[in-house]
Amino acid sequence: MTQIIPAILATTEQDYKDKIQELENSDSFEGGWIQIDLMDNKFVQNQSIGPEVLAKYKTPFRREAQLMVEYPEGWIEELVKVRVERIVFPTEDAQGVEERINHIKNHNIGVGLSINPETRVEKIVPFMGTIDLVLVMGVNPGFGGQEFIPDTIEKVKELFQLRSENNLNFLIEVDGGVNLENIKSLVDAGVDNLVIGSYLFDGDITENLEKIWETLQG
Ligand code: DX5
Repeated sequence: MTQIIPAILATTEQDYKDKIQELENSDSFEGGWIQIDLMDNKFVQNQSIGPEVLAKYKTPFRREAQLMVEYPEGWIEELVKVRVERIVFPTEDAQGVEERINHIKNHNIGVGLSINPETRVEKIVPFMGTIDLVLVMGVNPGFGGQEFIPDTIEKVKELFQLRSENNLNFLIEVDGGVNLENIKSLVDAGVDNLVIGSYLFDGDITENLEKIWETLQG
């Protein structure tokens, strides 16, 4: 069953609160996942809220933290304390991907690797047997509302084939530029999770979610 996961890209605490409140006001997201973007203005040219804001607000949602940071280890430590359910960090991480995966798993937290548009799927092969999820970025990370990169669909197909051939069960997730024009192709290519920010939050999120399901069932 495809998961529609709202993306929370918040540069201020107020923005984070507002988005969470908007999701809570709609009874269509109760108990589902949200993805919170965490950015350090180094790995990506944008600065977001930090883990301390996540700690401050309880939410009725299952939380995935997407790290877009140069040195994930400190952020991971903070996120472990906040008890998010899944932590995704960049495969492009300069060093220590395997150690970070083990560290996150040792705290009984789900772990995912993200790959940027310019990164080939092969990059995750050494880790694909040990992670819970692969996040394919549909845009160059750092900002919402960017144009979807069509090659993302091919990468989903490649991952789907890799998973099947190796009898693995990591989830395939796409984030960035996801909207009504590309969700059907992404699901047909084998995606499990669609992370959506701009499309969902532009207007009434409950209506936008209904349009997403109508498009997928159409
Ligand atoms: C991009 C972020 C995405 C973004 C959502 O750097 O990782 O999660 O907030 O993307 P859009 O707004 O395109 O759905």
